[in-house]
Amino acid sequence: MSDIVSEINKRRTFAIISHPDAGKTTLTEKLLLYGGAINLAGSVKGKKTAKHAVSDWMEIEKQRGISVTSSVMQFKYKGYCINILDTPGHQDFSEDTYRTLMAADCAVMVIDGSKGVENQTIKLFKVCVMRHIPIITFINKMDRDSKSPYDLLEDIENVLGINTCPINWPIGSGKEFKGVYDRKSKKVLAFTANNGQKEVLKEEFSLDDPQLDSHLAYGQKDILLDDVELLDGAGDEFDLDAVRRGELTPVFFGSALTNFGVEPFLEEFLNLTTPPLPRESNDGLIEPTKDPFSAFVFKIQANMNKNHRDRIAFMRICSGKFDKDMEVFHMQGNKKIKLSQPQQIMAQEREIVSEAYAGDIIGVFDPGIFSIGDTVCTPSHKFSFKGIPTFAPEHFCLVRQKDTMKRKQFIKGTNQIAQEGAIQIFQELDAGMEEVIVGVVGVLQFDVLKHRLNNEYNVDIIMENLPFRFIRWIKNDESVDVKSLDLASDTKRIQDLKGNHLLLFTSEWSIDWALEHNKDLELTEFGNV
Ligand code: G4P
Repeated sequence: MSDIVSEINKRRTFAIISHPDAGKTTLTEKLLLYGGAINLAGSVKGKKTAKHAVSDWMEIEKQRGISVTSSVMQFKYKGYCINILDTPGHQDFSEDTYRTLMAADCAVMVIDGSKGVENQTIKLFKVCVMRHIPIITFINKMDRDSKSPYDLLEDIENVLGINTCPINWPIGSGKEFKGVYDRKSKKVLAFTANNGQKEVLKEEFSLDDPQLDSHLAYGQKDILLDDVELLDGAGDEFDLDAVRRGELTPVFFGSALTNFGVEPFLEEFLNLTTPPLPRESNDGLIEPTKDPFSAFVFKIQANMNKNHRDRIAFMRICSGKFDKDMEVFHMQGNKKIKLSQPQQIMAQEREIVSEAYAGDIIGVFDPGIFSIGDTVCTPSHKFSFKGIPTFAPEHFCLVRQKDTMKRKQFIKGTNQIAQEGAIQIFQELDAGMEEVIVGVVGVLQFDVLKHRLNNEYNVDIIMENLPFRFIRWIKNDESVDVKSLDLASDTKRIQDLKGNHLLLFTSEWSIDWALEHNKDLELTEFGNV
């Protein structure tokens, strides 16, 4: 096997997704600990201690304690090279989560055992299902009083519409949490809380071991035996193909904080997941190990480091090997380029990388040429990957700067943030850039916009909520005279940055009105923003 093929086959690339506070940061920290990427638990920090997770870059994340942007970390474990893509833990940023999922081959979903699938998270998890990638569930905080494991599984099945298959099964919870029963080895892994360090005392018992009885509380053994019988008899059978199609989620119970069940999870995770998968392009499927270097941009982030005012484009390598000095072809720019300052993030450190392989994520310095979804490939084999869909914004605001002298910074800031895909900006027809209409998928994105304009561009803004809820691009823009359309009085004509015309509606009723009164008009929900 060539070196490139063996390197690629070692890769596992997954996104980690959860409701805020379910334990995503804690689990990530423990995984990094096993990989030796960090040495001490607590290096990826809790929020209240005013120390912050390695992946939390932005001020607003620190203030709110939510993860807004996604970041990438890599670690090695038992010969594997694992890339973790962190995702925003709030559904207002579900579009960002979706883009990150596009760069991942599978997702780990962390659920708080005491809460189950929380309402505000449903949208976020559904985005995961939409992507049809394997989802592996970690039900966390079993050392706290939890819901019944049956209810937790039912929650997942009902909300996400996918089947569940428990890989292990908890014995009690909270003070009565005694460990998990591993269904494959048919052994009980006894719960021993440690304060989060890597070395965990491992005590295993088979079901008929008399020592198990003394480890368990009164009555727990009977419940366990019943549960095991029930699961083996009635549960969904484990079917690796269904897992890989994203139709069945393997479920693990554990406690990230006390480091219980994390290493078994990691080991089984490696068995369940695949090396980087092929991707669709306009030239057929691109095979990670057969095709030469190719990658696509799934995220752009400006000003990650305030001192450097840099803009980084994150790319997922889809095939072949990347070398630092290689020349690549940027399809959308129709140009040969060199990717400058390619870097990878290893726990806390950003490191310049000299080589990377399919499955890896690299961040490259972006002088303003990249957009989300762009393809870079080898000049001898040109093609474009399938694009990343844009979510239609659902909330709109009129935004203008307080100080009219700051016009330049205002335009630069709003444009750059829009290029990152964090917001979409529009203008009223024939209006100048003094004020723009900003559309977002989740309202928290408005707060991020305000904060970032102030913090990174030194611009104070005034935001005025607009009553619109629906946006439609005019599909047959060339043949329609937008100004003479017969529209309901609460419909607004606007244009995007590329000059495409759109309509803003307050209700579905006004959309119907527009279509009925303008027989030639064709509307579409998705723009090529
Ligand atoms: P997130 O990234 O998903 O938002 O969650 P995070 O890991 O930050 O965890 C949220 C809180 O839950 C933290 O407590 C963390 O210590 C706690 N936690 C995580 N995993 C477990 C677990 O397995 N068991 C228990 N009992 N708690 C867990 P915090 O109070 O917000 O922070 P801190 O005061 O502990 O630093």
